[in-house]
Order: sequence, then structure tokens, then C-alpha cells
Amino acid sequence: MDAPLDHHPIAVFDSGLGGLTVLRALRQRLPGEDFFYFADTRFLPYGDKPEAFLKERCVNIAGALARRGVKALVIACNTATAVAADAIRAATPLPIVALEPGVKPAAALTKTGVIGVLATTRTLASERFRRLVESHARHVQVVTQACPGLADAIEAEGADGPLIAHLLDAYMLPLAAAGADVIVLGCTHYPWAAAAIARRLPAGTRLLDTGEAVARQLERRLLAGELPGGGAGRLTLATSGEPQSVMATVHRLWGEKMPLEHWEPDRS
Ligand code: DGL
Repeated sequence: MDAPLDHHPIAVFDSGLGGLTVLRALRQRLPGEDFFYFADTRFLPYGDKPEAFLKERCVNIAGALARRGVKALVIACNTATAVAADAIRAATPLPIVALEPGVKPAAALTKTGVIGVLATTRTLASERFRRLVESHARHVQVVTQACPGLADAIEAEGADGPLIAHLLDAYMLPLAAAGADVIVLGCTHYPWAAAAIARRLPAGTRLLDTGEAVARQLERRLLAGELPGGGAGRLTLATSGEPQSVMATVHRLWGEKMPLEHWEPDRS
């Protein structure tokens, strides 16, 4: 029989540091778990890359993480989920938790009957997103806004800065004009810029992200698979990019200086 996996870390991955907004919620709910966070900085942003490329890359990442010995995998990236979750599930023998834009709770919460969705071009163009809206938001108006450049701007500037301001000035206008009172942050990078986003919308507009829902889902999966606990709250961060420069961005966003290792799934 295989040795029990309960003390092994849980892997979390994103194109970059957006998934840290999810990791924060995971660690709060599951403080006894160890996490291995992988930022695929070398290929950031995912949002404008061809679907076939992303699918292959994400399946490779998941396979390399499984070989590393993690006990579960959280896809902390809406774009990766939209294009590759099914392929990852088919190819990877691990419990997998994926996330998708919070269209369902937004459609339940809106009072104006208009919700806004901010996400990457690739997420909004996906069949998975079309099905999500079809299943849960047919009774409301859904205004989508692709935000090319925003994830990179957040990695470069943190929570706010001239580039973020320039992009948000343009991206928030249609949502505010349409009367959306609930805005879905459909990319895990965007919660970092929540204050800058909120400033451009009428007071009282609600912003939704899915970090906590993902944490609850992961907890359920661990309990169902008898894999909970066993860690010590340890966190390892890795990047396919240049660790020194990614470390500076982690510090700016996360507020703590943390070491990063270089890790390349294609060679693991
Ligand atoms: N954080 C990713 C997401 O949730 C995408 C950012 C990007 O690489 O374009 O969609």
C-alpha cells in the first residue's frame, strides 16, 4: 500500500502572483496545511496566450507537481481553469480544486439586475464561461470587461500606480455606465487592486472574489479524501521566472519578505 499522503503539501498555481490572493484564504482556513505555491512567471500573462499553448503548459505543470509529491492541487487562476481544468483532471491523479468567476453569487446578489465581470480575454472567450453565464445568470444582464495588461500592471506596480490607474479608468467606465451593482473579480490578480477598482465605481458597489469559496471547497475535498492536516503551516514559494525580481513583487503585494526558489516544470 502507498504511504499516506496527509502530511504532504498542497500545490497552488497561477500564471504569477494573483493566486496569492487565493493562497491567503487557503492558509486562513487551513492553518495546519503546508503549501507549495508556483508562479509561472516565465509565461505571465496567461490571459492573452493561445488556448492550445496554455492547455499543454498547465497539464505539464500539474504533472510535475504530482511527481513532486503534493497531495492536492488548487488551480488558483481563472484563465487556466477556463482552458485547461478538464485536461488537467483527465491527466493528473490528484484531487483538484479549480475556481471560476463568481457569476452565480453575483447574479443572486444584484439589486439593479446588472452584474459586471472583470476577467482576462481568454477567460471571457471560453466555452466554460459561456456555460457559467447560461446556467446561473440568464435572468440578469451580464456586462463583461476584458482587462488586457492589468495582471502585468499589478505585478509591476502592486495595488495601484500610474499604469493600473490608466487601465482602470478605461475598463471601469462601461460597468459604471451600465449600472452594475455587483462586480465579479474574475481573475485572481484583481483583488490586489480592489481599492483602486472600488474608487472608480459608485459607493456601495460590491466586489466579489472567490478565495474563500475555494478554501471551503478544498477543505471539503481533503476531508472527503481523508487527507487533512499533517502539515505545520509551512509555505514554499517557487517561480519559473527570475526569483530575485519576483521576490520584490511578493514583498510589495504580500507585505512580507519571503524566499523563492526557481522551479521549471518542464525539467522536473
Ligand atoms: N491570475 C490569472 C487569472 O485568474 C490570470 C492573469 C494572467 O496571467 O493573465 O485569470
